[in-house]
Amino acid sequence: MTPGVAKRGTTLAAIAAICATLVAATYQLTAARIAANEQAWLENSLKPALGDVDYEGSITAAKLVLEPPHGLPGNDVAIIYRAYSGGVPVAALFAVTARGGYAGPIRILVGIEADGAITGVRILEHRETPGLGDGIEESRSDWVHQFYGRSLGDPPVTGWNLEADGGDFDQLTGATVTPRAVIKAIRETLIYFDTNREEIFDMPATAESL
Ligand SMILES: Cc1cc2nc3c(=O)[nH]c(=O)nc-3n(C[C@H](O)[C@H](O)[C@H](O)COP(=O)(O)O)c2cc1C
Repeated sequence: MTPGVAKRGTTLAAIAAICATLVAATYQLTAARIAANEQAWLENSLKPALGDVDYEGSITAAKLVLEPPHGLPGNDVAIIYRAYSGGVPVAALFAVTARGGYAGPIRILVGIEADGAITGVRILEHRETPGLGDGIEESRSDWVHQFYGRSLGDPPVTGWNLEADGGDFDQLTGATVTPRAVIKAIRETLIYFDTNREEIFDMPATAESL
C-alpha cells in the first residue's frame, strides 16, 4: 500500500467515526425528546379524569401495572396512576376494561380521590355503535359526567346500577347494554379502591417510565 492510499484510508475511517458519533448523539437526543413528548401527551390525556385535583410531579411516573388476576374489572392488564401532593396521596386513576359491552371490551379511566369520591370517568377505547352505545364518550353526550363526585356510599353499592336495573344512574336512549357494562366496571373499581386503598398508594411504581 502506498503512503497516499494509507493516508486516505485513515482520513475516511476518521470521517466514518465522526459520522457514527454524530448519528448516535442525534439518536440519543431525539429518543429523549420523543419519550418526553409521549409522557407529556399521556399526562394531558389522563388529566381530564382527575377533575380539579391538585397534585405535584408526574402521575405517569407513579404508575402501577397489574397483570391479572388483580381484582380489578376486565381480567386483562390494569394500570393505576397515583397522584400525590406533598408526599400525601390525593387521587388514583385506574385504566381498566369493562366487559359485557355490545361490541366488545371498553377501556375506561376512573379517577378516584383519596376519600373515595370520583374525580372523573373517561372512555379510552370502544367499538360500540355510533348513535347508540357511543353516547358513553364525552364528545357524544354528558352521560359520563353523572359519576363526578359520587362514591361507594353515594349511592350505596346497590345503587351503582342503571335506573333500568333499579339503580341511580341514567341509561342512554336506546342503549342499555353499553352503559350497564361501564357502570359495572366503575362499581368494581370503587370496591377495589375501597378494599385496597393503602396498598394502592404504598406499592412501589412499576419500573418503566411510561
Ligand atoms: C345494530 C344494533 C346495534 C346496537 N348497538 C348497541 C350499542 O352499541 N349499545 C347498546 O347498549 N345497545 C345497542 N343496541 C341495542 C341493544 O341490542 C338493546 O336493545 C338495548 O341496549 C336495550 O337493551 P335492554 O333490552 O337490555 O334494555 C344495538 C342494537 C342493534 C340492532
